[in-house]
Amino acid sequence: MPTFRVLLSSEQIQKRVEELGATIDRDYPAGEPVYLIGVLKGAFMFLADLARATKVPARIEFIGISSYGKGTTTSGQVRLTKDLDVPIEGCHVILVEDILDTGLTLTYLVQLMKQRRPKSLRIAALLDKPDRRKVEVHADYVGFQIPDEFVVGYGLDCVEDYRNLKDVCVLEA
Ligand code: IMP
Repeated sequence: MPTFRVLLSSEQIQKRVEELGATIDRDYPAGEPVYLIGVLKGAFMFLADLARATKVPARIEFIGISSYGKGTTTSGQVRLTKDLDVPIEGCHVILVEDILDTGLTLTYLVQLMKQRRPKSLRIAALLDKPDRRKVEVHADYVGFQIPDEFVVGYGLDCVEDYRNLKDVCVLEA
């Protein structure tokens, strides 16, 4: 049985997500809808909390991406597994991602979203591992910068396990 070291407690996460929600409220013109596009599957929990932390009229969409092969090392390849169900042309969009690691996934997604001509495009990432970056990506809303350790919980998995942990934990062998 693996052991888990709590890196970010559920309370810390909730407090920070509330702050991010308040920042989003300040950044968007009143009344205009904002598409919160969650990157499946890891962002589902962050998206659910972020959507409730903001007062903007949010529309919820998901996009599916596969960037990791098996285990904990990146394959470096990004593949679209589920596209958006709606056009986003002329709309405000926030891409909601669980973690910014090498940056390859978000670079791919930003390119894809820009082709669809949104009115604005910003990025929210709960976690950021800056030490791992291979391509430069600017995230507008970042929850926490974390060291280069593999984490699970609050939506993040290790081979599909542990997504439902409330805390973000380092998986220790
Ligand atoms: P990137 O393309 O390397 O930035 O990777 C982004 C994706 O890799 C995230 O959406 C996660 O699915 C996955 N990932 C990166 N680091 C971790 C981690 O520490 N735990 C779980 N998944 C991770």
